Amino acid sequence: MTGLDIAALRRDYAMAALREADAHTDPIRQFEAWFADAVAAQVPEPNAMTLATATRDGVPAARVVLLKGIDAQGFVFYTDYRSRKGAELTENPLAALVFLWKEIERQVRISGSVSRVTAADSEAYYRSRPLGSRLGAWASHQSAVIASRDELEERLRDVTARFLDGNVPLPPHWGGFRVVPDEIEFWQGRQNRLHDRLRYERRPSGWSMTRLSP
Ligand SMILES: Cc1cc2nc3c(=O)[nH]c(=O)nc-3n(C[C@H](O)[C@H](O)[C@H](O)COP(=O)(O)O)c2cc1C
Repeated sequence: MTGLDIAALRRDYAMAALREADAHTDPIRQFEAWFADAVAAQVPEPNAMTLATATRDGVPAARVVLLKGIDAQGFVFYTDYRSRKGAELTENPLAALVFLWKEIERQVRISGSVSRVTAADSEAYYRSRPLGSRLGAWASHQSAVIASRDELEERLRDVTARFLDGNVPLPPHWGGFRVVPDEIEFWQGRQNRLHDRLRYERRPSGWSMTRLSP
């Protein structure tokens, strides 16, 4: 090793505070406000989020995906339904998301149930993607083992030849999932590890908000 002292890496957080009085009663509105702050602060890839899933037996897995839409119902991302995450979400439709916007000392955690978006929504988003990405969705069976890089490039050549007119339809195995939140927690770094944490929970009467100890 390089002698780098990982345990000594630390940073004090002092940029902002999160007060109940300033927080929206609706966590989706609060998320949108923080997302706008992340964009304004030029956080790179502010829509990158860690997605945690689990098998039916509770074996967890996590990876980064991109948020592609948010509405009153929830948080949408797109993927290959045949991928590991796709299989896990099909057998166990629960997920957690984490956004880390470290440049503004914020984290957002979301958990809830997951469902597929409509084929019409997947189609609309798929059509907005660059040609190369649309072809890639046909060429790659995400998360399957392949023999080599060459095999992947060969498949790309095949699908490019198949869709020579550039009219690449939505693959049946590809589309969006929506995480419908039951819980959303906003974390704002503060000094001396006394961070602010506000957690919203969905109740029959609407969203409740509580403060958690850091
Ligand atoms: C910044 C970033 C963004 C990504 N966005 C997506 C995405 O939107 N959809 C997706 O399927 N994979 C995305 N990936 C790739 C996933 O992290 C992962 O490798 C892939 O989806 C396979 O995961 P799985 O085998 O658990 O299904 C992204 C990776 C990174 C680093």
